[in-house]
Amino acid sequence: KIVNGFDLMNYAAAHHYMLPAFNTTNLEMTYAIAKGLNQANLPGYIQISSNNLRLSDPETIVYLTKKALKDSDVPIALHLDHGKTYEDVKACVNAGFTSIMIDASHLDFEDNIKEVKKAVDYCHFYGVPVEAELGCLQGKEEDIVNEADAKTDPDMVQDFVKQTGCDLLAVAVGNVHGLDIEPKVDLPLLKKISELSPVPLVMHGGSGIPFETIQEARNYNLLKVNYGSDLRKAFVSTFGKAYEKNHNTCSVIELSLEAVENVSKTAADLVTIINQ
Ligand code: G3H
Ligand code: ZN
Repeated sequence: KIVNGFDLMNYAAAHHYMLPAFNTTNLEMTYAIAKGLNQANLPGYIQISSNNLRLSDPETIVYLTKKALKDSDVPIALHLDHGKTYEDVKACVNAGFTSIMIDASHLDFEDNIKEVKKAVDYCHFYGVPVEAELGCLQGKEEDIVNEADAKTDPDMVQDFVKQTGCDLLAVAVGNVHGLDIEPKVDLPLLKKISELSPVPLVMHGGSGIPFETIQEARNYNLLKVNYGSDLRKAFVSTFGKAYEKNHNTCSVIELSLEAVENVSKTAADLVTIINQ
């Protein structure tokens, strides 16, 4: 069963638990993440970016995710990651996503607020929580490259959260998207933001951040951490290694099964380590 995002957030807050949010790209990865969380016996998010809606539509994603979670014993929410437009947000809520991010962080402060507020009004009507982002991460998320590195300004945080009504705040504190740039998380900045933010915080770009940093960030109201690249690497490298070894190896079924194992192990290890 897919659970509501608010229930997951309440669970995490009550148990001082760090929610992992694992990015899926296809059906196999969805199965693998569900399997990994189940093996670890720990709750979390399966999330899929707006960008991924080019490959599949929200109804199909919800249908397949429900199938993938059929035998799951842990609570899992289905989250729209980096929601690009109000239309994407609406389509995902209507299809049955239980948590939403609207990412208008590339806009100026006032326009960011406007976009987020619009999404919040819609989502809250259906009881779905909203994550918004203030500041901009450097790096590459799927095929979107961002050169700019604009850290979250603590002085804007309270106003932003109050005016938008968002439920989770994604911050830019030296964390980066992808594996090409080394993240340098500024924990004192995160602490400062946590003291000002009325809502829990989210760390994007989890891949490559030292586990001790994430463990310490738990004390600064960090509730959700996103992992994309680590899982995609586990998936793609399975095929890459086999192909490099033998160009005539095209046993997609065998390799997909192996990739599912590798991704589920990566997810299970990550969720366990960050909660130690
Ligand atoms: O929204 C997705 C994440 O921020 C993933 O970042 O690929 O660096 O783990 P990552
Ligand atoms: Zn992200």
